[in-house]
Amino acid sequence: MKALVTGASSGIGLYISNELLNLGYDLFVVARDKKKLEKIYAKKKNVTIISLDLEDKDNCYKLYEMLKDKDIDILVNNAGFGDAGKFVDTSLKKEVDMIHLNVISYHVLMKLFLRDFVKRDRGRILNVASMAGFMPGPYMASYYATKSYIVNLTLAVWEELKKDESGVHLSMFCPGPVDTNFNHVANVKFNVPSIDAEKAAKIAVEGMFKNKKIIIPSNMKLNYALVKISPVSLVLAVNSNMQERVDE
Ligand SMILES: NC(=O)c1ccc[n+]([C@@H]2O[C@H](COP(=O)([O-])OP(=O)(O)OC[C@H]3O[C@@H](n4cnc5c(N)ncnc54)[C@H](OP(=O)(O)O)[C@@H]3O)[C@@H](O)[C@H]2O)c1
Repeated sequence: MKALVTGASSGIGLYISNELLNLGYDLFVVARDKKKLEKIYAKKKNVTIISLDLEDKDNCYKLYEMLKDKDIDILVNNAGFGDAGKFVDTSLKKEVDMIHLNVISYHVLMKLFLRDFVKRDRGRILNVASMAGFMPGPYMASYYATKSYIVNLTLAVWEELKKDESGVHLSMFCPGPVDTNFNHVANVKFNVPSIDAEKAAKIAVEGMFKNKKIIIPSNMKLNYALVKISPVSLVLAVNSNMQERVDE
């Protein structure tokens, strides 16, 4: 049993990797910081470390080429980041990089591995999306938009797989704030409590093995239900108070 986890050196991806290791999976773990990956996984014999910057789409193709003959059972698309602030003020470069990582890398890896999974009628893909994918997010507009892309892509492809009675399972994990390095990278402070990253990863992995389409931690279920029934003007008004930029 083999799994590929992107963003496996920190936060949700690190704990998803631990869960899969405990279940006996051989892992291919990806992040940019090789030394950090080596420090975390040094003692694990069944882990292959791959240091790549997935903001570069050529590296996504390269990653697929490296692993296409390895009979991967699970792809966890997880590496991602955000940025907070007024859209007119935030860094265009950081946002374009974010779109490359949060959207293009997920898209490329999902498509390439899905084609192989569909051919053999077996495999799982877990896209780490976010509660942010279900709504617009003032003061974090670009990040929320990247997650909307993942939510809508995952849902549509899920339906296609269902209609084909495919043996391939597609899930997306949609937590609210999780206690990771995310806030530091995104210069953000959320005005809602965060959940523990280990707990979040357990929920994600459990949900994936239960073939759940949408995996939402219990602390966000009411928010999800309210977003679904509320007019967009109300969602915008409430959500504009949910996050603020902090400069350290
Ligand atoms: N934390 C939250 O509140 C929250 C809530 C909902 C959804 N999410 C989503 O959960 C996912 C994981 O985030 P996290 O909270 O666990 O954040 P994190 O602790 O900052 O971890 C991000 C991981 O992605 C890797 N990464 C970042 N840029 C990369 C790149 N260009 N190429 C390859 N790997 C890269 C990082 O390693 P390197 O820096 O070494 O590359 C690290 O391993 C993201 O998609 C995020 O949007 C997070």
